[in-house]
Amino acid sequence: MKFNLISNKITEIDVDTIILSIFMSDDTTNGLIHDIDLALNGSISEILSRGDHKGKLREVTEIYTNGQIPADRVILVGLGPEKDFNENSIRHAAAAAAIRARQLGARKIASIIHGVEKSQLSANDTVRASTEGTILSLYVFEKYKSENKFDSVESMSFIENKDIESDYLLSGIEQGKIISNAVQLARDLVNEPPNVCTPAFLAEQAMQIDDDANTNVSILTEPEIEDLNMGAFLSVGRGSTRKPRFIVIEYNKKLLDKVQPLVLVGKAITFDTGGYSLKSASGMSTMKADMAGGAAVIGALQAASKLKVPYPVIGLIPATENMVSGTASHPSDVVSASNGKTIEIVNTDAEGRLILADALVYAAQYNPKHVIDLATLTGSAVIALGEGSAAALFTNETSLAEQLLTSSESSGERIWRMPLYPEYTDWMKASNVADLRNSTNKSDTGIGTSAAFLQEFTEGYSWAHIDIAPMAFLSGGSVIKRLGPAGATGFGVRLLSHLMIEYAN
Ligand code: BES
Ligand code: MN
Ligand code: ZN
Repeated sequence: MKFNLISNKITEIDVDTIILSIFMSDDTTNGLIHDIDLALNGSISEILSRGDHKGKLREVTEIYTNGQIPADRVILVGLGPEKDFNENSIRHAAAAAAIRARQLGARKIASIIHGVEKSQLSANDTVRASTEGTILSLYVFEKYKSENKFDSVESMSFIENKDIESDYLLSGIEQGKIISNAVQLARDLVNEPPNVCTPAFLAEQAMQIDDDANTNVSILTEPEIEDLNMGAFLSVGRGSTRKPRFIVIEYNKKLLDKVQPLVLVGKAITFDTGGYSLKSASGMSTMKADMAGGAAVIGALQAASKLKVPYPVIGLIPATENMVSGTASHPSDVVSASNGKTIEIVNTDAEGRLILADALVYAAQYNPKHVIDLATLTGSAVIALGEGSAAALFTNETSLAEQLLTSSESSGERIWRMPLYPEYTDWMKASNVADLRNSTNKSDTGIGTSAAFLQEFTEGYSWAHIDIAPMAFLSGGSVIKRLGPAGATGFGVRLLSHLMIEYAN
């Protein structure tokens, strides 16, 4: 899909569909709304005055133009109340309009930039949000379907407002495209079936973002991972014939001597059966998405390089499969992580923390400014917050929490801070045979104890853990409005991209 800026008059714009977003309080006395309304003989003021369109967020109404202007139709879309207006209102309005436009067979869309004059938002951020909402909502994963359900929209033109400098608009479009394309990459990886998306496949896909210039990708295979003594990580893959990979993506590596990097760690279990602590059929049904943290980190690293983030960013992705076989871990096995700590595997289904433990130890060699890990770590996160509601944030660094919560606000990807009480650590240390156990087998403490376990491997740096289990893969039924179809959401890519833009290190 192509995006561009145009400055033609409404009566001259050569597209099939014009999108006009309006607040609940809008009338047609001023601006481009006024121009369109005049050209359409007052149809818009009539709809608004009759209350047929109320301007509620995501409300859409189409108006046919009867040849009064070149466009075939105008889609009115609600932005909601002006007082609640933010980047996310724009994303959702753009999404609702784009979906309606596609349903109506639109190919070329033009959209009026609206809201800038009424809020604190910059022109850059307004257009970025609109671009994000449009691209993300039109996402489809149809590569395994013989027939495609949707024809794609070819282009979106933003209609320039004379008061705004076009440089800001162009940079907003560019950022929106970069972020959304990175989200699409993550979604594609998560939606791939687990017979295709193996650790080796994930590594090959990560290699695609190696550009020889600023981004270097290296792939460690089992013998190299063994040399690093990553006994916790390796134990998880022992039951599978598909060998593990440790994916290392380094962006702006050349600055590492001078600038501390942001290190991102992503859990990538390409399928989680639970191992001998086997999941139920329904519990296993979405477990191809257990690599969503890794996919988000790959997406975020692609975005980092395209956004030209001025500091180094490192992505670490332990990728493996949790299967059952004669060589798989037993419950009661004891393994040792690369920092020498021993772990009793009480439950083979608590495998995410085992692979993250070794990746978090590996992260320390970069002398990181911050380490942020993303993982579909616990079912209890889904129970605590609800599917589609928010991801769970754990950190002891209040300033890092504040930064992440700010980026959460601007990106529209919700996170909710949870406590890291010292008792959680005591629970995880209460093994009779090893330094730590990977589970207490008490389901009521599942989320906090998982974070406390990870904390044991985060020495010497500022760290945040984000449990994305509630957000990574959504079924169709959720009442919470999504930007995109059911299935993979690419959660985390937008949050991290906005963090990298807003936070100058
Ligand atoms: N990948 C799962 C967590 C998960 C569950 C993600 C549902 C998304 C939706 C993880 O590996 C797991 O199985 N966790 C266990 C841990 C328990 C055994 C301590 C869980 O949460 O049940
Ligand atoms: Mn598991
Ligand atoms: Zn898992």
